[in-house]
Amino acid sequence: MKKGIVYKLTIAGVLFISCYNTKSSRPPASRLPSLKEIFKNDFLIGTALSAEQIEEKDSSAAVLVRQQFNAVTPENVMKAEIIHPQWEEYNFDFADKLVDYSKKYGMELTATPLIWHSQLPPFVSKLNDADSVRRYFEDHIATVAGRYDGKTHSWEVVNEALNEDGSLRNTVFLQKLGSGYVVEAFRLAQKAAPNTQLYYNDYNIEQPRKRAGAIEIVKKIQAAGVRIDGVGIQGHWHVDDVPLNYIEQSIQEFSALGLQVAFTELDLSVLPNPWGRIASADISQTAQYEAQMNPYTKGLPDSVQQKLATVYARLFLLFLKYKDNISRVTFWGVNDGQSWLNDFPIRGRTNYPLLFDRQYHPKPAFYTVIETKKKAGIVIH
Ligand code: XIL
Repeated sequence: MKKGIVYKLTIAGVLFISCYNTKSSRPPASRLPSLKEIFKNDFLIGTALSAEQIEEKDSSAAVLVRQQFNAVTPENVMKAEIIHPQWEEYNFDFADKLVDYSKKYGMELTATPLIWHSQLPPFVSKLNDADSVRRYFEDHIATVAGRYDGKTHSWEVVNEALNEDGSLRNTVFLQKLGSGYVVEAFRLAQKAAPNTQLYYNDYNIEQPRKRAGAIEIVKKIQAAGVRIDGVGIQGHWHVDDVPLNYIEQSIQEFSALGLQVAFTELDLSVLPNPWGRIASADISQTAQYEAQMNPYTKGLPDSVQQKLATVYARLFLLFLKYKDNISRVTFWGVNDGQSWLNDFPIRGRTNYPLLFDRQYHPKPAFYTVIETKKKAGIVIH
């Protein structure tokens, strides 16, 4: 089917929605359409959960998550600094609660990250001999991946191993274990978690040079006879710069390697980016607060709200086109108030990157995403 027709239908959907007065016609939460229902034959719809949300402390969030999502990812509680704070000390409290949560509500759990250079516990950052780093690496993978085998659907085994040019990032693991550490992480994960899907996860790997680096990683893992099941494209994009062509090429190229593709951390920033157009999700890159970098403290102008709705619709149209290759689309958070993009890369801003607003109400983008399926989904097949 011709792209033009699909896009026209999308725009028609967007216009339809922009006539919607979301405030006066806001349906009660129980009567909202459900994303997980709408896309149930296409891919899972996930969200990242904070520690408070895992404990269902906020009832508005709890109701919405159960109604809208069928996949969950821990936003922070499986990161090494939390789950493995000291050499011989593990803290599985929240991770275990998340396992119970996912079981109770029948949601698919993605565990993450197993090996990542950020949010490491202080004892790892201080290690300077290769033997100690190797011991940490092996113990951590065996203990953490082993514990959750059969309880989590998938692991993001290695997170963010690449630089923008596709070379391996200079981390403690590269320095002390050498360039084979990524393959080794998958080998150890496969051993510890034989029943768990194994993914490589990164941001900007839809960009050609970084994507080439990811493909090289995948090929090395496969050539070593080690299992890799999928690639996670994080999807931290800017509303003005969602690289649809590169995303499409990436889905095609990763699929051609026999992999599933997941969109693992989707959000679309609407705020100025201090470094120009291509967003970075490197959590160590921060910038100083300036008022001009925080333009929407009193609400999002309609024009930006509509742009967000249109761009989300285009993205979901692409996801639908490749539904056979996409396992899951996960948003990085439940609502705008929770989003990490309020504090990254500049602390204290007011961002609007998700489908639900600070009051947990659906935004126009929620409806355009749903309209995309209803109107254009028919055309794509
Ligand atoms: C972010 C969390 O959302 C924040 O709460 C935390 O302070 C920093 O990390 N890529 C990843 C995620 O793989 O783990 C990051 O999550 C966002 C970028």
